[in-house]
Amino acid sequence: MRTLVLPGSFDPFTRGHLDLARRAAALADQLIIAVSHNPNKQGLLDLETRCTAIDRTLEQEGLTDRVRTEVLSGGLLVDFCREHGAQAVVRGIRTQVDLSYEEPMTRMNHHLAGIDTVFLLTHSTLSHISSSLVREVAKLGGDVSDMLPAASASALREALTTR
Ligand code: PNS
Repeated sequence: MRTLVLPGSFDPFTRGHLDLARRAAALADQLIIAVSHNPNKQGLLDLETRCTAIDRTLEQEGLTDRVRTEVLSGGLLVDFCREHGAQAVVRGIRTQVDLSYEEPMTRMNHHLAGIDTVFLLTHSTLSHISSSLVREVAKLGGDVSDMLPAASASALREALTTR
């Protein structure tokens, strides 16, 4: 069985992530979305809220037969891949900046465990959407609802009204 892992912070899971998940799922028998806590990033949604929003989105999009969510809790991504029998990691590339960010991680994961990373170019209509910009725009009162699946949009709204 060909298993791919799509790791990320997904804070929040955007329409860009959804597009990637759909395209990556088409390349594999199963896709695991590995939701990570990234201590280097200032987050907004807690891990459970992010996972719930992704699960709801997968249900709404009819993707649950091939795609599931797991928490990547503290350990190495390559260990997660080994434990879940995954052959490769998938990441989306929007810009050259993304490629520079990905390059050392890709080489390190390959060095550590021979795990390759497959890159999918983000569609140009979605390439300006990043979780960090969505958070910033939303915090400052901008409308981000058309950049997010409905479940992510409501999770973000709730987080911003209760903080
Ligand atoms: O969406 P992000 O925050 O850019 O995703 C970063 C992520 C989760 C892919 C990266 O932080 C990661 O792989 N974390 C797991 C820990 C790990 O394996 N670190 C070494 C990477 S070479």
